[in-house]
Amino acid sequence: MHVAARTSRFQESMIREMTRLAMKHDAINLSQGFPDFNPPEEVIEAAVKAIRDGVNQYTVTWGYPPLRKALAEKYTRQLGWEVDPDIHVAVVCGVTEAITATLLALLDPGEEIIIIEPAHENFRPAAVLAEAVPVSVPLEKPDYRIDPARIERAITPKTRAILFNTPHNPTGRVFDAEEVQGIIDLVLRHDLVLITDEIYDQILYDGRVHVSPGSYEAVRDRTVTCGGMGKTYAMTGWRLGHIIAPEPLINAIRPIHDYMTICAPTPLQAAAVAALALPPSFYTKHLADYHERRDVMMDVLYTLGFQAVRPEGAYYTLADYTSIDAPQSDWPADRFAHWLTTEIRVAAVAGTNFYTVPGYGDGSVRFAFPKRIETLREAHARLSRMLDQ
Ligand SMILES: Cc1ncc(COP(=O)(O)O)c(C=O)c1O
Repeated sequence: MHVAARTSRFQESMIREMTRLAMKHDAINLSQGFPDFNPPEEVIEAAVKAIRDGVNQYTVTWGYPPLRKALAEKYTRQLGWEVDPDIHVAVVCGVTEAITATLLALLDPGEEIIIIEPAHENFRPAAVLAEAVPVSVPLEKPDYRIDPARIERAITPKTRAILFNTPHNPTGRVFDAEEVQGIIDLVLRHDLVLITDEIYDQILYDGRVHVSPGSYEAVRDRTVTCGGMGKTYAMTGWRLGHIIAPEPLINAIRPIHDYMTICAPTPLQAAAVAALALPPSFYTKHLADYHERRDVMMDVLYTLGFQAVRPEGAYYTLADYTSIDAPQSDWPADRFAHWLTTEIRVAAVAGTNFYTVPGYGDGSVRFAFPKRIETLREAHARLSRMLDQ
């Protein structure tokens, strides 16, 4: 049977594949980035209530009005300009849809988009769906710092956009002001659009503060800010994302979203209003809990001989296993990740999965740690067996 040529340009997600392997082998799943705990009780109650109260039909395609209002308030603060809920906001099915809809709306076939690697694995397929050309620029370990000169060398007359994720999956970097300024200078110098993925905007460590690149005045009119509810409120399965953009850009994006999915699930959008209304004490505890998870995860990895930079944000670490005292430490990353999952029964993702540039990512695996402390302790017990061979 004939299938479209574009399907040959990407494979099934390796991360979701690792989750299937983890389930098959009863492994602790530190591969896919989702929490093993529930959203806050009041948010769950709000979802149940919305369903019982009859909030069950399609809503306005670009979002349930009270949610757009709450998002406009959040992003007016975060971006520093007056975000109008009726003009600048679109609620979509996850950041995945936010990025795909944005690329479909803004890139013509053959136009290029810069993707900084290691990158979340949905970025390239989104570009492929838009028939655009993803152009990868690698970051160098162990610091994973943005090098604007290197990005600039990848920019051509066909380049239309830069896709920029901070806090960053999978490195745990929170790009600093100098790095963000470097990106902004490139965007301005080459007349590009800046598309940001800020899904981890509420998970930063050691007093760091998230600064949205779209808050820089010089790029306000050319930045599409993508955010999501899944990570902050432990509801990745609810599929809630959003896009904030200036009028000409959001006007192009909204119809694409409409024809892709019509709207995100209405009762869950209603419950998301309750999530955005949570008091400051929620965020204080959320951050304290994430600090504890990060510290437990990193202590486990350091004790076992992994090498990794302590994450500055998000909930991943890209850990180098090559100096571990185990016979497998010289294996390629995909074999090592497979062995960890099936034999040690802790699932992780090969570092090579986050790069397309040859020669990068080997010798490392990504662990995701949005997990209960007891889950991380059990992972520790299992991982320790690596050294008993
Ligand atoms: C950087 C980044 N963007 C987007 C996503 C997917 O977001 P969503 O579940 O809202 O589609 C993830 C999930 O891990 C991610 O890490």
